[in-house]
Amino acid sequence: MTRNFLTTSDWTRDELEGLLDAALRFKRGEDTSQPLAGRSVALVFFNPSLRTRASMQVGVYELGGNAVVLEPGGTSWTLEHREGVVMDGDKTEHVAEFVRVLGRYCAAVGVRTFAALKNWEEERRDPVLNAFAKYSEVPIVNLESAMHHPCQASADMMTIREKLGEGKKRVLLTWAWHPKPLPMAVPNSFALAAAQMGHELTIAHPPGYELDDALVSEINERAFDAGAKVTVTNDVEEAFDGAQVVYAKSWGSRLFYGNPAEDVEERAPYRKQWIVDEEKMRRTDSGVFMHCLPVRRNCIVTDGVIDSPASVVIDQAENRLHVQKAVLAKLIGGKS
Ligand code: CP
Repeated sequence: MTRNFLTTSDWTRDELEGLLDAALRFKRGEDTSQPLAGRSVALVFFNPSLRTRASMQVGVYELGGNAVVLEPGGTSWTLEHREGVVMDGDKTEHVAEFVRVLGRYCAAVGVRTFAALKNWEEERRDPVLNAFAKYSEVPIVNLESAMHHPCQASADMMTIREKLGEGKKRVLLTWAWHPKPLPMAVPNSFALAAAQMGHELTIAHPPGYELDDALVSEINERAFDAGAKVTVTNDVEEAFDGAQVVYAKSWGSRLFYGNPAEDVEERAPYRKQWIVDEEKMRRTDSGVFMHCLPVRRNCIVTDGVIDSPASVVIDQAENRLHVQKAVLAKLIGGKS
């Protein structure tokens, strides 16, 4: 059976720990093997990217392989993913053919497909990513879908371990004000991975910005299995007390999904309060500041925090490279 990397929960905690070990070996230069020599990897981008695209292309190259970058609707045909539709509209090719053809050339397919932020019940099921996984005969790597960003979350876990050492840490995931609603993939995957790794997780957000109910249940189950607990709070000040990691991210409300203007109005009162600033960071236990990037300065986080020694965002972005090399080496190269 093809092994994919769609969410971190596809993999056991031991496998994730092994992934971080392998990523650290790549980072330290202890592993210079090229398990992709003579192989190609397709990277399919429906949406813009800096970190994911650059780090995947560089990572494939450093593993000895060749990256084939495709942008449906731009450098490749427009793609349909729904089942049984009469394709008489603006979509030229179906994922069913697209991904199987790519599989004849490439050893794996990475795909970035953001939430359209239109239909919550549909998008929470990750339809495009799952269509890729359904039809592919080679491993699929999720490069950020509607609901998950496992490569980011794995780099985040690597960064926490690198900066603070092994073992349980007090980790805060805090919503932050942003001028428009954003997808939930990053907070979903960060919370899930933090729970899998046994960190004490606090999730802070204003009322109405709850994460998906089924996902929150899974996060609680994973935390329980790992001997940790999850706290959810609407108190943006107390949430920072004693945190060793502060992870900021904005996301849209399910209550206004498909209605961005209403979400923008709803969040307006949170603008001054829901920002990571120096005062809140003083409440932490010498906490490090994390964000997946790109970040809007002085909306999500003040210049004073992101430019301080507490900020690890550039190392976090670097770790995308190492952790994705470990994912590819495992999926294609058969390395543990
Ligand atoms: N964090 C992240 O995925 O960055 P990009 O959107 O630039 O790839």
